[in-house]
Amino acid sequence: MAINPTDFDFISKIVREQSAIVLEKGKEYLVESRLMPLVHQEKLESLENLVKQIKMKPRGTLKDAVIEAMTTNETSFYRDIHPFETLKNAILPELIEKRKTQKELSIWCGASSSGQEPYSLIMLLKNSFPQLNIWKTNFSASDISNQMLNRCKSGIYSQLEINRGLPAPLMVKYFERIGTEWQVKEELRKMIQFRIINLSEAWPMMAPLDLIMMRNVLIYFDVEMKKNILGRIRKLLKPDGYLFLGAAETTLNLDENFERMPFKQSGCYRLKQG
Ligand SMILES: C[S@@+](CC[C@H](N)C(=O)[O-])C[C@H]1O[C@@H](n2cnc3c(N)ncnc32)[C@H](O)[C@@H]1O
Repeated sequence: MAINPTDFDFISKIVREQSAIVLEKGKEYLVESRLMPLVHQEKLESLENLVKQIKMKPRGTLKDAVIEAMTTNETSFYRDIHPFETLKNAILPELIEKRKTQKELSIWCGASSSGQEPYSLIMLLKNSFPQLNIWKTNFSASDISNQMLNRCKSGIYSQLEINRGLPAPLMVKYFERIGTEWQVKEELRKMIQFRIINLSEAWPMMAPLDLIMMRNVLIYFDVEMKKNILGRIRKLLKPDGYLFLGAAETTLNLDENFERMPFKQSGCYRLKQG
């Protein structure tokens, strides 16, 4: 069912206001394919009717459901692999050496989707750096989507999701089978504090961070919002901390206080030194 231009403009406007996600003209197909399941689920018959309902009840849950439906939640275990290799071979050994007196590491995954990214990282910490077992690790993961946060907290994945990037030895070591699905062991789940954070709004107070994963989310925002978020990351990151962005993202021409680290396809940045 095709969306009319006025309704498309309305949906684009509320999505941008609530999440900063930009839906440019030409993305009508995306809006249609993402919102039609909601139309059917709510027995609303048409996209036109969905828009009408939101206009009648602008503070209703339907509007939140539209925002949720318009987020792209694509993710996988050890997505793009290079960032995780860089973390394993260079960044974590360096941070561990630098923090060996305090024995404390603070990490934030700022758009964790269904959780594969924070769980990939926590498995890396547990499996490759057993000395961290006696450290204090403050690990938080957040997303704008309530549905995604619930998935993160449950730590339950289908066989298909497991097959996308999770090495078999890690599955055996850190997952338990429940029926046809797999659940991250409680020991790991309780190491991560999951919470809702809308990156386009005020962020909760956070202590300075050693490592920020902000991968594959800035691409959905306009230049001003990217600058705004990088500016806030800059203030949150410790002077010798690291930021990881997605493969299609950069700080270039957005925030000149960051420099890209020379690790192959890792999207690894730090604050300019000196
Ligand atoms: C493509 S996923 C990226 C997941 C993971 N970081 C990765 O690279 O595999 C993008 C995530 O950003 C979230 N997102 C979109 N807009 C957001 C916002 N304004 N604040 C916080 N999260 C947002 C979406 O809900 C989605 O889960």
